[in-house]
Amino acid sequence: MIRYTRTTEGITAGNLRGFFVGWLNPPSPETHLRLLAESDEIVLAIDDQTGNVVGFITALTDRVLSAYISLLEVLPSYQRRGIGTQLMRLMMERLERLYMVDLCTEEEMRPFYERFGMEAMVGMAIRNHVRQPGMS
Ligand SMILES: CC(C)(COP(=O)(O)OP(=O)(O)OC[C@H]1O[C@@H](n2cnc3c(N)ncnc32)[C@H](O)[C@@H]1OP(=O)(O)O)[C@@H](O)C(=O)NCCC(=O)NCCS
Repeated sequence: MIRYTRTTEGITAGNLRGFFVGWLNPPSPETHLRLLAESDEIVLAIDDQTGNVVGFITALTDRVLSAYISLLEVLPSYQRRGIGTQLMRLMMERLERLYMVDLCTEEEMRPFYERFGMEAMVGMAIRNHVRQPGMS
């Protein structure tokens, strides 16, 4: 069974293996745990059988007007079972009273996010690749 939680309580770096697929210099599990703890809102999907995190979503928000959904990932072997949808649904529930909820994504993901009432807008971004493993 997959359960969902909004805190990192009881989660260790050892429960956070296998994420950031395709990243050239991915954050370590320790850094991943830190970014989860520092995010304003998170939802974790946990496999009850192993206690491991199998999916997560993070958001940064001023809790007045706006929020930015920064990361969403489900481990490859757990994809296409509705976990990403449930993570997004639980996060949107949390952010529903805000005026703006933004994120950046690839064109192929557009239908996925449109199902949550989102619409495509022009986004601007910069990626400082030497910082991809995270600030120490
Ligand atoms: C995007 C992601 C989180 C979706 O998680 P998931 O648990 O597989 O999603 P769901 O099972 O809820 O998928 C629901 C629907 O979304 C769509 N979808 C899911 N993943 C998709 C993908 N990679 N590309 C296009 N559509 C996708 C499909 O229509 C899917 O329905 P289907 O399985 O009946 O075809 C997951 O594929 C992932 O971690 N990808 C790598 C990281 C990433 O791209 N994150 C998003 C950055 S903005």
